[in-house]
Amino acid sequence: MPLVNVIRGDRIDPALINVRTPFIRIPLWLALSWWTIKALARLVVVLVRFWYVTAPAALFGWLYLRYGWVGPVGVVASAAAVAAGWGFGHRPSFLRFGGWPILSRFRRWRYRRNWHAAMVTARLAVSFDHHTVLPVLRKVRCAAGVDVVTVRMVTGQIPDDFAKVAERLAHTFGVRQVKAVPGARPDVVLLHLFRGDPLAKTVRPLPVPAVPEFTALPVGRCEDGDGYDLRLFGTQVLVVGATGSGKGSVIWSVVRSLAAGVTSGLVQLWGLDPKGGMELGMGAPMFARFARKDYTAMCELVEEAATVAKDRAAKLYGRTRQHTPTPDEPLIVVVIDELANLTAYLTDRQLKDRIKAALSILLSQGRAVGVHVLAAIQDPRKEVLPFRDLFPTRIGLRLAEAAQVDLVLGEGMRDRGALCDRIPQNLPGVGFVVIDGDPTPMRVRFSYLTDDEIRDMAHTYGRLRVIDGEILDGAA
Ligand SMILES: Nc1ncnc2c1ncn2[C@@H]1O[C@H](COP(=O)(O)OP(=O)(O)OP(=O)(O)O)[C@@H](O)[C@H]1O
Ligand SMILES: [Mg+2]
Repeated sequence: MPLVNVIRGDRIDPALINVRTPFIRIPLWLALSWWTIKALARLVVVLVRFWYVTAPAALFGWLYLRYGWVGPVGVVASAAAVAAGWGFGHRPSFLRFGGWPILSRFRRWRYRRNWHAAMVTARLAVSFDHHTVLPVLRKVRCAAGVDVVTVRMVTGQIPDDFAKVAERLAHTFGVRQVKAVPGARPDVVLLHLFRGDPLAKTVRPLPVPAVPEFTALPVGRCEDGDGYDLRLFGTQVLVVGATGSGKGSVIWSVVRSLAAGVTSGLVQLWGLDPKGGMELGMGAPMFARFARKDYTAMCELVEEAATVAKDRAAKLYGRTRQHTPTPDEPLIVVVIDELANLTAYLTDRQLKDRIKAALSILLSQGRAVGVHVLAAIQDPRKEVLPFRDLFPTRIGLRLAEAAQVDLVLGEGMRDRGALCDRIPQNLPGVGFVVIDGDPTPMRVRFSYLTDDEIRDMAHTYGRLRVIDGEILDGAA
């Protein structure tokens, strides 16, 4: 006999197990109340989730019902008055607790709207196993001129993936520049989106520190509006830039930050200006030793500095790793305005080789023993390459071509945001500072000293001694 199952009037083919939910009759009122409760619960969730819209709306509604138009208008007017008073009275706290958080929320909403399209067009969306996975936009923090967007990367992505498409992202989000910085956690990247340019204005000469702090010399301004402090201890500084890019202003900013040390004797500046003293000549009294015409004198100066470095290194051997400057053993900074003149264009081969040899010693041994080099160069081709890696601090001002950036600053630096070739001609003194071991270039504008300000500084702080081997001031 064939087996036939009949369930609720339907004939069902026989099977091992047949399951049907039980059929329960409930009264209409019960169903209606259940739906109502569900709808109300959803409404509460929405009201709470979008509290920043619903709470003010409720408040204004209540005010309107209670007091008519005067209610909401009065509240808005007094809130505006309080905000204005706070903003004018104490701007930092207003921005910290009021302005920036509100702006951040607004910007986050704006970035969210474009996020999907931006990630897909920049090829940051990852397709895997028929799914598309997007990097997650987590947080947006606003500050003057910059939005910092915290992004959780997709598994397998690295911050450099974002750095490579930084320019594309900048266009997509309508900002001046995007910089990708590794976050505190390994799966997080911080995108810095720069809007206006806080470095558009010339930076005035900064106050001279009474005692120079060799680990933090105030020389200019950063993109976030803070001062930029250059570390001199333990490093050598190379400045590269096309003609008119402001190499002089980097030199004078550093000299100015050390000026009080020159007066007290804690610092000795040795100046080499192979262009005949055009750049450094105005401030010649700042230099303990100065050479501008005679290449032999320049060579001897570099050799002498190398000897000092070697002697100090031998003396300090095994005692300390960082020399502390004193008036007897001052910090020596050899300032060279056009390095290529000494290392490349010089026709006297023997002299050139001597300079190169001494420079290599000076650069490699001097940094721990307080003998530093601050060298500027215009032509970033191979002349500097043998020396580039001996300069742990490299500053790239405006450069002619994109290819020069990595050549000067180091592999991958242009991708990481050092767009030296994009610095416009009308922003001299703007450049990117790269420090060995730090993956992110820092955009900085160096302070600008006019010729008169340089002369004034030299007059106030200088103690001229030797020029081209001639003792001038009797002070040596
Ligand atoms: N930090 C700065 N801020 C504003 N203006 C600057 C700054 N630095 C330089 N300038 C302007 O740019 C001009 C050229 O600067 P500077 O002579 O320092 O360039 P340079 O790189 O030394 O060029 P060169 O290779 O021809 O010597 C200056 O005369 C000045 O007007
Ligand atoms: Mg110059």
